[in-house]
Amino acid sequence: MEDVLSQAPLFVALNDEAASALRSTMVEVKISRGDDLFTEGDPGEHLYVIVKGKIKLGTTSGDGRESLLAVLGPGEMFGELSLFDPGPRTATATAITDSVVLGLGHEDLVPWLSGRPVVSQELLKALAQRLRRTNEALADLVFSDVPGRVAKALIELSEKFGTRRDDGLYVSHDMTQEELAQLVGASRETVNKALAEFAQRGWVRLEPRAILLVDTDRLTRRAG
Ligand code: CMP
Repeated sequence: MEDVLSQAPLFVALNDEAASALRSTMVEVKISRGDDLFTEGDPGEHLYVIVKGKIKLGTTSGDGRESLLAVLGPGEMFGELSLFDPGPRTATATAITDSVVLGLGHEDLVPWLSGRPVVSQELLKALAQRLRRTNEALADLVFSDVPGRVAKALIELSEKFGTRRDDGLYVSHDMTQEELAQLVGASRETVNKALAEFAQRGWVRLEPRAILLVDTDRLTRRAG
């Protein structure tokens, strides 16, 4: 089984045999960059685990503005809200790079989980971590300035997608500047200004769809 899956909340509590059995019931879905897997408001019927790629979860306001709730990578799950609280999808899932996900039907998952409280506990843990992060992001929207929120987003992205290099932590985030702004909850202009200022101070080096974090200590302090 793929290494990345064994650490995913759905699999982490299972032994190899149980994990392989579960894996064989899941359906692989390939999504090309830019394509939606599902749209906000759709009926939610599957939970997904990412094997490869990056998926953004976004919502659109009544007047058409977009906001990103999260960008997820290998090993992370999504689509669980409409499992635990049956109802429409709360966000649109779009691939920001060519991606592979494994889907599991809610109908199969619910009875399977009822005999496996330890797995349910892992899913609750993942849900609680998500709520913690969301609460923090909400507080940051109220209490932090845009550069502080940009610094925090960069640190978070580096924890998920960063690779260590001699000259710093290389974060290939694959997002456009617009998407980065939607994740931070600010205009593209303000986010660009904050990034340019970090670059000018030598904390980061900007590249298209990637960023090199040169001074993570300063960025962490700026994130508050
Ligand atoms: P669901 O509502 O089924 O479909 C959209 C998914 O986006 C949702 O399940 C969650 O998996 C995910 N999602 C919604 N809100 C957040 C959030 N604040 N942080 C991370 N993921 C989220």
